[in-house]
Amino acid sequence: MNILILGSGGREHTLAWKIAQSEKCSNLYVAPGNAGTTQVAQNVNIKVDDFAAIGNFVLENSIELVVVGPEDPLVKGLRDYFESDSGLREVAFVGPGKKGAQLEGSKNFSKQFMDKHGIPTAKSRSFTAKDINDGLNYLDTCNLPIVLKADGLAAGKGVIICESYQEAKESLKAMLLEQQFGEASETVLVEEFLDGIEVSVFVLTDGKDYIVLPEAKDYKRIGERDTGPNTGGMGAVSPANFANEEFLKKVEKRIIKPTIEGLKKDDIPYKGFIFIGLMSVNDEPYVIEYNVRMGDPETQVVIPRIENDLVDLLLAAAKDKLSSAKINIDPQVTSTVVAVSKGYPGSYEKGKSISGLADVRDGLIIHAGTKADKHKILTNGGRVLAVTGKADTLEDALAISYNGIDHIHWDGMYCRRDIGKDILALHLDS
Ligand code: AMP
Ligand code: GLY
Repeated sequence: MNILILGSGGREHTLAWKIAQSEKCSNLYVAPGNAGTTQVAQNVNIKVDDFAAIGNFVLENSIELVVVGPEDPLVKGLRDYFESDSGLREVAFVGPGKKGAQLEGSKNFSKQFMDKHGIPTAKSRSFTAKDINDGLNYLDTCNLPIVLKADGLAAGKGVIICESYQEAKESLKAMLLEQQFGEASETVLVEEFLDGIEVSVFVLTDGKDYIVLPEAKDYKRIGERDTGPNTGGMGAVSPANFANEEFLKKVEKRIIKPTIEGLKKDDIPYKGFIFIGLMSVNDEPYVIEYNVRMGDPETQVVIPRIENDLVDLLLAAAKDKLSSAKINIDPQVTSTVVAVSKGYPGSYEKGKSISGLADVRDGLIIHAGTKADKHKILTNGGRVLAVTGKADTLEDALAISYNGIDHIHWDGMYCRRDIGKDILALHLDS
């Protein structure tokens, strides 16, 4: 069958790499893709939110399965667009409709959903510009630090962790009155701070049944030992050893099951991935956020551990057949190290020539912000590429990732040197 993946990052290159291995896949397309996706698929020059162009491409190329990488087209209603068109309705589509995508598109919606269905999460209240005074008074009753969250999508920047009451008040005013994050901060959540270790759990569901994919830990800050500004993610490992079997059982019982049940009860059809960002507080799981897609760079460590034909699983999710699906997870450990452009996550340079890719022997090179230019591959984004390693131990997986990274070069290339080190330290302690 012909398959289309939407997106252009490392997540989409990894999905394409895996889907291309399926015997069921005849022609694989990625829109818009990157220099890496051209190695396993054909790139199509269509933007992920150009619904009409996507629909036409799907019809003209007899696409039978569409897999949506990023949240933006889902929040904007790409699935609803397909469902409202008689020609597109029958195409298997992985990703929720606009209503389900609110789990990520509105933090206020997802908080109400969790509260309604008894899913453990940080306590919070929401405020708009109208009730700014209530909001400011409420801040005085909270313990520090205080977490402020813009309700809408804010390119991963809408969360501020305030260490003082003054900072919290100024930030709340900037978000509500000066629209620091535009429309996204018209509503702001004031949330209790959860002190613990983060872990990401991924579920693929058809709205009734689900499978749980391998969990992962990502490294969000730009600097080593988790310092400096947040990024899209500088590396990831899977599994996360502190999330042991007992913890994952609690996650399934208290979070995954009630989430799927809640979607059913609230009459929200949902076919696609749910990425649950969790905080483990004294070994008890709390939801920090839902995302309606896979994580990036978590996909780079999760997908290589799935032994199944991914097309089978994706089709089962799209066609209500997950009850008979079983996931087989490779017990080996994966790591990925992301290399970024100079300046990232602030403004960064582009167009630098990348060398050494052909010298990487063992690692899997995953492209993100790259562009092919005649015989050269150039940097074309903040996060440029990652190298995934897989081995029996985390030490060996990381050695493969870093060995790969060390063969690659461009002007201003930067990566964190401490990916996975915290987990190795936990191993030593236990
Ligand atoms: P989000 O955009 O919701 O993923 O939040 C970004 C990051 O802020 C998360 O990955 C956490 O590290 C942190 N964060 C969000 N909410 C909380 C919370 N209630 N307590 C502690 N940290 C949080
Ligand atoms: N790595 C975090 C995300 O994909 O949102």
